[in-house]
Amino acid sequence: MKVLVTGGTGYIGSHACVDLIEAGHQVLVVDNLSNSRSEVADSIGRIVGTRPGLEVADILDARRIAGIFRQWRPDAVMHFAALKSVAGSCREPLRYFQNNITGTINVLAAMQESGVRNFVFSSSATVYGDPDACPVREDAPLRVKNPYGRTKLVMEQMIEDVAAHTPDFHAAILRYFNPAGAHPSGLIGENPRGEPDNLMPYVAQVASGARPALNVFGNDYPTHDGTGVRDYIHVVDLVRAHTLALEYLVRERRQLKVNLGTGVGYSVLDVVAAFERASGATVPLRICPRREGDSAECFADPGAALALLDWRADRSLNDMCVDAWRWQSRCAGS
Ligand code: NAD
Ligand code: WQD
Repeated sequence: MKVLVTGGTGYIGSHACVDLIEAGHQVLVVDNLSNSRSEVADSIGRIVGTRPGLEVADILDARRIAGIFRQWRPDAVMHFAALKSVAGSCREPLRYFQNNITGTINVLAAMQESGVRNFVFSSSATVYGDPDACPVREDAPLRVKNPYGRTKLVMEQMIEDVAAHTPDFHAAILRYFNPAGAHPSGLIGENPRGEPDNLMPYVAQVASGARPALNVFGNDYPTHDGTGVRDYIHVVDLVRAHTLALEYLVRERRQLKVNLGTGVGYSVLDVVAAFERASGATVPLRICPRREGDSAECFADPGAALALLDWRADRSLNDMCVDAWRWQSRCAGS
């Protein structure tokens, strides 16, 4: 298939390009490089032997996007392009609504105009807010707690409406838990600009000496060691599920909505210990108050993805730390 990947030079999108090309698909990346670099396309090329096409374009530019669709004629879209910082969305909610929601409308409109019918969408466990119980199933109540989460929920609902009213339009809504790690080649990975929001890149930067200590947001949660528990999933496992989801849409011609997680929760201190083992470095800690909006624990029931896609995550927390450390040591920040 010819797959147009928005946000394809970003962290998860770049790994998805690798998986798609390795599975025999043809890829065109559309990215405005607001949070990534064009060199990522070269790195993807070094991993798989074929550099994906790259159109540096903003999904807010509806005419340009429609033109790219008319010219390249994709069979499917994987839509990763979005702003993703929870804190950023609280500072600039309108910017998040504009970029994520309006951008997605433009992509859907270009698909409609060009008759593209298969759509894989990056959603997030953020739509569950603070879940009542874990493991979280797809039918758990949805309640968002910040503007970023609201963009994901609104986009899910828009996509479901479009799918319900467009003959032959099939969408996969994939709710990621906590993506982590990097490609084992060390050539692509997560390269946050400024201070990372997320735990794993922060730990990696402390281990490398780029930051003095990790702020642990709360050690008084009702968890096994008092720190927050999450479902970390290796990015390579995560993107495999995207290719399988796309193939499912084409084969089954139905909608799909699944959690992508491992089903296992680890605490902040578990992650720190695993990272110290993997890197041989020490990660100094500073115990801080809880971060506003955080829940004690959140981990997936990944049973639907297993049943529908025959997919399960098989890389361990140790694999995530080893691969994140290799990437951090070789490439991050360069
Ligand atoms: P990322 O920032 O590394 O990648 C997003 C890419 O989209 C970047 O390359 C950026 O330049 C591009 N982009 C943003 N706005 C654009 C626009 N208007 N036009 C064109 N390109 C644009 O983020 P990521 O971690 O790879 O996340 C990918 C997707 O997965 C996002 O939709 C995110 O919300 C979702 N997600 C991420 C996580 C996570 O923890 N990383 C968890 C759940 C869901
Ligand atoms: C994990 C744990 C923190 C940083 C966020 C978004 C979610 C999704 C994934 C996009 C928590 C603790 C963190 C630090 C810490 N993104 N922590 N010190 O909050 O589960 O999810 O990213 O869709 O929408 O909300 O992930 O990595 O920020 O935090 O102690 O410097 O690590 O309190 O317990 P989170 P996270």
